[in-house]
Parts: sequence; C-alpha cells; structure tokens
Amino acid sequence: MSRKLRVVITGATGKMSQEAARAVLDQSDVELVGAVSRSRAGDDLGPIIGRGSLGWVLAPSLSALLDKTGADVVIDFTRAEVARENIAVALSHGVRPVVGTTGLSQVELDGLDNRCRGLGLGAVVCPNFSVGAMLLARFAREAAAYLPDVEIIELHHETKVDAPSGTALRLRVSVDEAIAAGLRRPTPIHSVRLPGLVAHHRVIFGGPGELLTLSHDSLSRQSFLPGLMQAARAVMTFTGLVSDLAVLLEMGKRP
Ligand SMILES: NC(=O)c1ccc[n+]([C@@H]2O[C@H](COP(=O)([O-])OP(=O)(O)OC[C@H]3O[C@@H](n4cnc5c(N)ncnc54)[C@H](OP(=O)(O)O)[C@@H]3O)[C@@H](O)[C@H]2O)c1
Repeated sequence: MSRKLRVVITGATGKMSQEAARAVLDQSDVELVGAVSRSRAGDDLGPIIGRGSLGWVLAPSLSALLDKTGADVVIDFTRAEVARENIAVALSHGVRPVVGTTGLSQVELDGLDNRCRGLGLGAVVCPNFSVGAMLLARFAREAAAYLPDVEIIELHHETKVDAPSGTALRLRVSVDEAIAAGLRRPTPIHSVRLPGLVAHHRVIFGGPGELLTLSHDSLSRQSFLPGLMQAARAVMTFTGLVSDLAVLLEMGKRP
C-alpha cells in the first residue's frame, strides 16, 4: 500500500478547521499528523471535534510542528493575516499549503505563484471549495455574455469577518470578464451578515421585461469538504499556485 498523505491543520478549533479535521480522519489514504491552535494548544483535538483521543496534542506553533511531523500538506482556514504567515512557514519547510482562508489579494496570489514555482512546490488558495459555487461562477459567466445588467448579493453568518466574500469577488471577475466590451462599471456586490445563514450567493440579471436569478446555497460546511479533500491530494502533483476548483477537480479525474 502506498504511503498516506500526511496533513497538518492550522486554526484547528475554527468552524471550518473542525470540519476539515473530521474529513481528513475519515479518509483512508490521508493521515492527520498534527494541528495548530492558538486558543487550545496542549489539548487533544479529538474530543473537541467529537472524536476519541488522537494521541497527540494541539501545537502552539506551525514551524515547530512541521519540524517534527514530516507533513506533506498544511490545510489553513484562519484569517488572512494568519494564513499569510502559515503559507510562508509551510513553504519554508517544503510543505504544500492548501488554503481556504479568504481575503488574500490577487497581487499576493501572483507573488505566491512565483515563489512556489521557484521552490518547485504546489499550493492551493481557493476561496470556495464547493462544487456548486464553482458551477455558479461558470453559469454566471455564460449568462453575463447575454444579460450585462447584473448585481451580486452574498449572504453569510454574522461572524464572517471579510466583506464582500472572496467568492463574490471571484464571481464579479467572471461576470465582468464576460461583459468586457460593454462594461460601464464593476458589477455591484451587496453583503448581508445575519445569524442563521451559512454561505449563499445570488447573481441577478435584469433585461427588458425579464429577470434571471442564479443562486447557490451552502447549507452546511460539509459542502466544502469533497473539493477540499481533492485539493489536498492534487496539490502534491503540480508546481505553482492553483486557485480554480475546476482545475483541481479535473486533476482528480485523470487515471
Ligand atoms: N474556501 C472555502 O471553501 C471556505 C469555506 C468556509 C470558510 N472559509 C474561510 O475560512 C476562514 C475561516 O473561517 P471559519 O468560519 O472557520 O472561521 P473561525 O471559526 O473564526 O475559525 C478561524 C480560526 O482561526 C484561528 N486563528 C488563528 N489566529 C487567529 C486570529 N488572530 N484571529 C482569529 N482566529 C485565529 C482560530 O483557531 P485556533 O484558536 O484554534 O487557532 C479560529 O478559531 C475564513 O477566511 C472564511 O472566509 C473558506
């Protein structure tokens, strides 16, 4: 049997990181070899995520953890300022970052791509690992070529720190590229933050006497897990940065 993929998770007690940890533990070909937490360092992650003891405790520092675990991949769902640091630490240890944290700029991503190519390492920074959200962007691009009057609404739980969402910003790029020649202004984005919401996006197109609404709802954080797991496997197979989930999913189809 081939060696399991060795994964470390940062910000381990966060909402997405807990889901990611459970997902990693449920894969037969992936191993959770450690995790970092600033708030619960020294505690066993197992009971925190509703599982039995994992046999190791949460580390206070990613660098020290990578020195001793021999990890292949770091999964990061934290804050932009923390993710930036974690990416740098991972790459300096020859470990490939898979980042879901939103709020990194395109300029930063371009720099990261260059750095990864120089190091011969792969990296993923993807603001939305949901397959449905990826398809929403594809369909919105197609619609925008015909209906250029469009606005985006993104709705999220009240604890989300960044606005607009990384997904809405990506959607705007897709839509604005499709409109291109006739574009009068960047497509407006409206942000809603309310308890009860998870992650929801609406793209509303208006034409004479008609409306077209494309919508996607992540009803639970489980919607991000199949894409995330595919990203963790795929990042071992390429050099440079990939941010497009469609590209990562295509890699999973190759024999
Ligand atoms: N790409 C996707 O598909 C996707 C899906 C959902 C969310 N996200 C993004 O993932 C990120 C995390 O979302 P979340 O809902 O899981 O957030 P969250 O529940 O607030 O978790 C973030 C965790 O990061 C850790 N952390 C480390 N340094 C921190 C600091 N200075 N301030 C705050 N937290 C710090 C904390 O865990 P410790 O105390 O254990 O270190 C915290 O619990 C956000 O950027 C969100 O937009 C992306």
